[in-house]
Amino acid sequence: MAAKVSYVVGSNVWVQDPEEAWIDGEIVEVNGKDIKINSTSGKMVVAKPSNIYPMDPEFPPSGVEDMTRLAYLHEPGVLHNLKCRYDIDEIYTYTGSILIAVNPFQRIPHLYASDMMQRYKGMALGELSPHPFAIADSAYRMMINEGASQSILVSGESGAGKTESTKLLMQYLAYMGGRSGSEGRSVEQQVLQSNPVLEAFGNAKTVRNNNSSRFGKFVELQFDQRGRISGAAIRSYLLEKSRVCQVSDPERNYHCFYMLCAAPKEVVDSYKLGNPRSFHYLNQSNFYELEGLDETKEYLETRRAMGVVGINSNEQDAIFRVVAAILHLGNIEFTKGDEVDSSQPKDDQSRFHLKTAAELLMCDVKSLEDSFCKRVIATRGEAITKCLDPNSAALSRDALAKIVYSKLFDWIVNKINESIGQDPDSKNLIGVLDIYGFESFKTNSFEQFCINLTNEKLQQHFNQHVFKMEQEEYTKEEIDWSYIEFVDNQDILDLVEKVIEA
Ligand SMILES: Nc1ncnc2c1ncn2[C@@H]1O[C@H](COP(=O)(O)OP(=O)(O)O)[C@@H](O)[C@H]1O
Ligand SMILES: [Mg+2]
Repeated sequence: MAAKVSYVVGSNVWVQDPEEAWIDGEIVEVNGKDIKINSTSGKMVVAKPSNIYPMDPEFPPSGVEDMTRLAYLHEPGVLHNLKCRYDIDEIYTYTGSILIAVNPFQRIPHLYASDMMQRYKGMALGELSPHPFAIADSAYRMMINEGASQSILVSGESGAGKTESTKLLMQYLAYMGGRSGSEGRSVEQQVLQSNPVLEAFGNAKTVRNNNSSRFGKFVELQFDQRGRISGAAIRSYLLEKSRVCQVSDPERNYHCFYMLCAAPKEVVDSYKLGNPRSFHYLNQSNFYELEGLDETKEYLETRRAMGVVGINSNEQDAIFRVVAAILHLGNIEFTKGDEVDSSQPKDDQSRFHLKTAAELLMCDVKSLEDSFCKRVIATRGEAITKCLDPNSAALSRDALAKIVYSKLFDWIVNKINESIGQDPDSKNLIGVLDIYGFESFKTNSFEQFCINLTNEKLQQHFNQHVFKMEQEEYTKEEIDWSYIEFVDNQDILDLVEKVIEA
């Protein structure tokens, strides 16, 4: 950890900068607690010692592959190293056995060439350039050699590249645990094809990320005695339900809605769909098209992937029928009914959407209408029916849309699990956790609170695991080691969790 800077004229240092975060320069004058620095960019800065960090004069221009090799492991040093590597398209860097990925937001072909998985096979961590394949390989080998189940935690804020990294990890594990020559609907193919299916129904464009996961996912890969994938279980957490009926500009609803509106004409006609701009659940935002994405192709691809994971064609139709029904539900508007505080569908348009939704959901149209416009209150012995005003009816409509969508999502996850199958005899597992990352908007809802709390919990686990464990190791080996100070939010977690318990 950072040794204290010797503030002598001529030293090279990093100094905090309001725009650049950190700039480098040379100390030209020391005046008590005021240190004058001539930065490389030509700016003269006067700073306090607490904002200055020493710079390694022997730092290689293209950075180091493992941060533990940095002379100084402080924030500017770490960031500078990541930036130097990023500038030469090296987005992966180790810190010991932890892999840091910087999102390139563009395809970097040399990292994912077709022979890459083969090259990482059986290589010790650090022997080749940092890569998710190396992490997956080391988890796989630990599992095989020591018979111990492993898990890989992927964390980072929204849009950081977690889901893409998770897919690379899964791809490698499927490669290692796959049967040579097997194709079609093998377990590993199903595991990989579950990704596009879940993304179609659980991902959406947000401000930060065009393909943001709006659910958490824990994939548990089960292996047999010989190290082959013998089953898998996908667990999903906390799908963001509010998005189904409420989208803010410039975000989008779940991908599946736009895909379905762009499906082949006979499909669109049979569901009485059309332009996504005509649906309330989509047109609250002005954003419809994603650059470079052909929704018709996405629709067909999704159906193909659904086939691979064992969702048959009838089931696929049923799923999309529910998706279409939700769009029609959103277009039912309510107006005052004949009785006081009652409501009814507003006009012919609304009655059309109500009827269509009922047809698609295969339920009675009057019962569907009543479920919005009336509330049944169960009292002892009898049930009382109460009318709802137009506002409350619209809320009931949205509540139904949300619950139907989240049940649909759960159904899909269950179906995939059933079809891939579990191996009850498996003793060796590798779990990969990909949740949705920390986010903070202008207005944050309860969902952001839950997401951020989960991220905080994981960060705590990470801190416990990495810092505390490493420090114990150093102490044990009697290595002189100044303790890393890290922000410990345990108090806040305790507070929130105690409140939840109460
Ligand atoms: N390794 C990568 N190579 C190329 N593009 C990437 C990579 N990682 C992320 N991206 C881009 O960034 C977007 C956001 O990444 P994603 O993994 O969805 O973030 P997160 O899951 O952390 O929210 C992806 O849709 C993709 O366009
Ligand atoms: Mg994600």
